[in-house]
Order: sequence, then C-alpha cells, then structure tokens
Amino acid sequence: MRLLQIDELREGMVIAEDIISFGLLYSASGTILTEKAIEGLKSIDIKYVYVLDDADDYEKVVIIDNNLSREYKNTIDSFKNTFLNVKVGKKIIINELNDSLSPLVDDIITSNNILGRLRQIEVNDEYTYKHSINVSLIATMISKWMGFSNYELYDIALAGLLHDIGKSKVPVEILNKPSKLSKDEYEIMKRHTQYGYEILKNTSGIDESITLGALEHHERLDGKGYPLGLSGDKIHTYAKIIAVADIYDAMTSTRVYKEKVSPFKVAELIFQDSFGILDPIIANTFLKNIFTFYVGNIVKLNNDQIGTVVLVNKSNPTRPLVKTPTGFVDLSKRYDYEIVDIIN
Ligand SMILES: [Fe+2]
Repeated sequence: MRLLQIDELREGMVIAEDIISFGLLYSASGTILTEKAIEGLKSIDIKYVYVLDDADDYEKVVIIDNNLSREYKNTIDSFKNTFLNVKVGKKIIINELNDSLSPLVDDIITSNNILGRLRQIEVNDEYTYKHSINVSLIATMISKWMGFSNYELYDIALAGLLHDIGKSKVPVEILNKPSKLSKDEYEIMKRHTQYGYEILKNTSGIDESITLGALEHHERLDGKGYPLGLSGDKIHTYAKIIAVADIYDAMTSTRVYKEKVSPFKVAELIFQDSFGILDPIIANTFLKNIFTFYVGNIVKLNNDQIGTVVLVNKSNPTRPLVKTPTGFVDLSKRYDYEIVDIIN
C-alpha cells in the first residue's frame, strides 16, 4: 500500500487502512473510493490516505467481500432448507445450520465493519429468510460490543437465526400477506413464538437459551409483550438482544405494504423504548456503536437537502453532524432537522 495526499486520490482506488477522524471510524479499509467519498474526506480535512497499490491487494479485498457474500447466501440457503423442512414436520439438523453460520460469526469476531459490507449484498429472497439472517448477525454484533465470550457469540447467532422458526407453522397466506394483517390474523401470527419454542425444545443439540430466544423475543420489559407477558429480569438476555435487532431490521427493511424507515428515525424510536420497554443497556450499546457505520454516507434531510454524515457523537448517536452544500447541520442542536433517507 502507499500513502497519498488527498488531492492524489482518484475514483476506483481502494482504502487500505481504516480512516479515523475524531476517534471515530470515518471509512473502513476495503472501501472503493467514489468522487463523493473523496469530497467527503476533503470536507473533514483529511490530508493523507493509505490506498492499495497493486492488483494483488485489490483482489484480496474483492475476495474478502466475495467470501462474505457467499457465506451470507450459503446461510440463507441453509436456513431456507431448515424452514421448509420444519414446515413439513422434519427435524432441524443443527450441525448443518452451524456450519453455514460459523464463518459469518468468525467474520464478526475478527472484523469491525461486517454490517457495513453486508448492507451492500443484494439478495432477492423472501423477507422471512433475509430477516432471520440479519437479526442473527445484528444480535451477534451487539453481543460482541457487550463483551460476550466467543462461545456465547456462536450461541446467540444461532438463537437469532432461529428466533422466527415458528413462522414455518403460520399459514403462508398470513405470513406473506402483502398488506397489513387483520386483528385475527395478527393473533395467529403471534403464535409463532410458542410454535418456535415447541420446535426447538424437540430439537437435539440446542441449548435452552436458544429456545427461550424464540419464545420470548416479543416480550417487553413493561410486561406488555407476548406470549406470556413476562417483565423485567424474567425475560432471557438473548431474547432481549434479539428484540432490539428484530425491531431495527424489520423497520429499516422495505415490505410490500410499507416503506422502509430511515435507520436514524428507527434509532430514535429504539432510544425512546429504552425507557421501560427495551433493555436500556442493550439498546444503548447498539445505538452507540451502529452509527459509526453511517459516517461517510450520503443522506437526505427533511428539508430535501442532501448531505454527508461527517461525525457521529457517541453520546447522541442518532443526531450526527451533516455537511450540506450550504454548510454544516448539527442535528444534536437542530431538532427541527431529521434524516429521512440514506442514499448510499
Ligand atoms: Fe418474531
């Protein structure tokens, strides 16, 4: 790799070392530079950047991302098989699921920016499958930030992957209904928690914490969740972690009947729920860490202005500093502004 001055950077070059600004990750190694990204670096006064300098190095980065994409798709296929097998009454083969999931957990353990890279992987598969993998990986990431052991991370990843396995027993016309569920349909959908618990309880090689992740991930601290209305410490920690990952992924995804919501807006809802509904330590660990991945992204504000996220303040992560063509907007001071969309 070689060190270049900011004016020497060109589109298509690959960043070789993470760029840190004000102690925060601005851009991860392996990022391919675009004109906008170079402008973003100039705007925060970065003077020098390490870039990869030969084709071999570049190919290594591409291979890493191709591996990630392949591992992600393998896990989707493996989970899809499991889901369809359970639907017709067959048993879950845990080893097969673990074999496909483990490389992704290894990536989370060794890399900082897996979620940023995963956002770029395009998968045209049913929502339930994609959502299960995403919840698994986000829950694992939160657990890593919380300091769980590697052994526990593999367990939580599996708990996240299987949290909605009970949906295999929900009639397809309700599961994949392209519009909002009626009250009766919603009551049937809610049964997926108990179905999941029953399926996993009868699966060999599964820890009880994983069955409780499926049973309790819709329970809430105030006792207003389902299926049992458990409150506070009675809810298993894995289920509380999955709850945060579940809400984040569900709300930031596009469904046929609803538009995706900006991650910054969803984060504000999670923050509000961290007072009495979601576990505050888990929710805040998530919020403090997730937004460093959005530094450098182009966003749209509610006044239709386009800008770049240049700084995420860990004490107020949902209200970053945004650079627009007319200046800086500090969302931590300007509550009349909000980010309504992430453009890239
Ligand atoms: Fe669920």
